[in-house]
Amino acid sequence: MIELDVNGRKHGVDLDADTPLLWALRDTLALTGTKYGCGEGLCGACTVLIDGVAQHSCQVPVSSASGRQIVTIEAIEADRVGKAVQAAWRRIDVVQCGYCQSGQIVSATALLRGNARPSDADIDAAMVGNLCRCGTYVRIRAAIHEAAKALGEHHA
Ligand code: FES
Ligand code: FES
Repeated sequence: MIELDVNGRKHGVDLDADTPLLWALRDTLALTGTKYGCGEGLCGACTVLIDGVAQHSCQVPVSSASGRQIVTIEAIEADRVGKAVQAAWRRIDVVQCGYCQSGQIVSATALLRGNARPSDADIDAAMVGNLCRCGTYVRIRAAIHEAAKALGEHHA
């Protein structure tokens, strides 16, 4: 049994140590908000937070995620920054087909947790691992600025 801490809850999963975390989340724990895109670390659809860092869960062996705090899109709203990101996503109406978007939101949350006022270049650098076939990049950038602004105002 491998113990996983996902969205603040502990789960024992009976999987081979090298099974990608993505499959533990989707198939074993039925957290299907995290998407399978390429399985090769190239698209970002599978992005989750591991100890606060955005990571491609298709590339993380489940054994190495054990003992770390994993947060998926299902719980991102419990995070103050994640909640602001989702609200900005709705206000800007970012989503097109939606497939890439849970990964985009997770990566944007990680970015804003570390950088409260990212520049366009900061956003492009942080989001480079998240592809969007629908080309929503301009709205993603706008929504990240919008979320940064909203978070700043709450602090003021
Ligand atoms: S499915 Fe993990 S990066 Fe594409
Ligand atoms: S919204 Fe369709 S792939 Fe990004």
